Amino acid sequence: MENLEALRQELIGAIEQAEDPKALEDLRVTALGKKGKVTGLMKGLGAMAPEERKEAGAALNQLKTEIAAAIDEKSKTLETAALSARLEAESLDVTLPARPGPAGKIHPISQTIDEVTMILGDMGFSVAEGPDIEDDWHNFSALNIPPEHPARQEHDTFYLPGERDGHRLLLRTHTSPVQIRTMLTEKPPIRIIVPGRTFRCDYDATHSPMFHQIEGLLVDESTHMGHLKGCLEELCRTFFGVEDLPVRFRPSYFPFTEPSAEVDIGCTREGGTFRIGHGDEWLEILGCGMVNPKVLENGGIDPEKYQGFAFGVGIERLAMLKYGIPDLRTFYETDIRWLKHYGFSPLAVPNLIEGLNP
Ligand code: PHE
Repeated sequence: MENLEALRQELIGAIEQAEDPKALEDLRVTALGKKGKVTGLMKGLGAMAPEERKEAGAALNQLKTEIAAAIDEKSKTLETAALSARLEAESLDVTLPARPGPAGKIHPISQTIDEVTMILGDMGFSVAEGPDIEDDWHNFSALNIPPEHPARQEHDTFYLPGERDGHRLLLRTHTSPVQIRTMLTEKPPIRIIVPGRTFRCDYDATHSPMFHQIEGLLVDESTHMGHLKGCLEELCRTFFGVEDLPVRFRPSYFPFTEPSAEVDIGCTREGGTFRIGHGDEWLEILGCGMVNPKVLENGGIDPEKYQGFAFGVGIERLAMLKYGIPDLRTFYETDIRWLKHYGFSPLAVPNLIEGLNP
């Protein structure tokens, strides 16, 4: 029993002195492992007389429990100390800015639609939409383009099989049918813009069978051609970021506007590319005019009381000119390298109008 007390002191002392979990584990093996000191003594119990064994057994069991408890406690102390040491040694600067993760890019078409929408939104226009699949009444007849009108051929229409309310179905060739849809559902004053897909059977470096337009329509009692000119001059100058951009209104013809005009902006041609601004060349960028009274009538609006203007602009053309994209077809090739080069950061919203460095 005296030996046992000496062993107890030795082991407990060593456990208290242990400096790390490894030393502690070694001590556990030394004391309680298969070949450990306490285990060895336990094995000796069998050779003892019953009386002696009872006493020694109880003492050994108690020693075993004590040692296990001491190891346990020391282990917790070591863990806490290790954690404090780590906390002491490692520091985390929570004020460091986060590393930017990989972000997607905004396609130049979406970017251009957003820019034009913002400019016209500031002038009081709100966004309207219409279906890509139209019938020939909304796309042509209601817009004063009768069945045999040459403008129908010019539009190179994709027709669908089938009819709706006795009219042939087609993919809309322009966003102008939304003029009719809006007039039929809203009362003047009307001030809408319509960004959307349009379709014509045509394909080369400047034409794609699917492309985008933004339509504008304003109908009220007093808006005249002067307002049309002011609105579109402002749109062109703000969009291209050239304050004194030359803007020219050239007489033209559209069945749904009267009078009609095409808008040209000043530019210089350098090699194969255009530079928007002053120069001796003109570049056509949109069609417009005062809404034809027949169109107002087809839209259920009294042309004696109301008048207004409309315009339609091609999005791809605007994007190509502003961002120097030479071939229209690349817009739809979904080439990730192209998008990385010409795309826009989704987070740089405040710069929308000025445009961004891609
Ligand atoms: N819809 C015409 C086009 O696609 C553009 C336009 C719209 C012209 C509105 C005048 C008024 O070419």
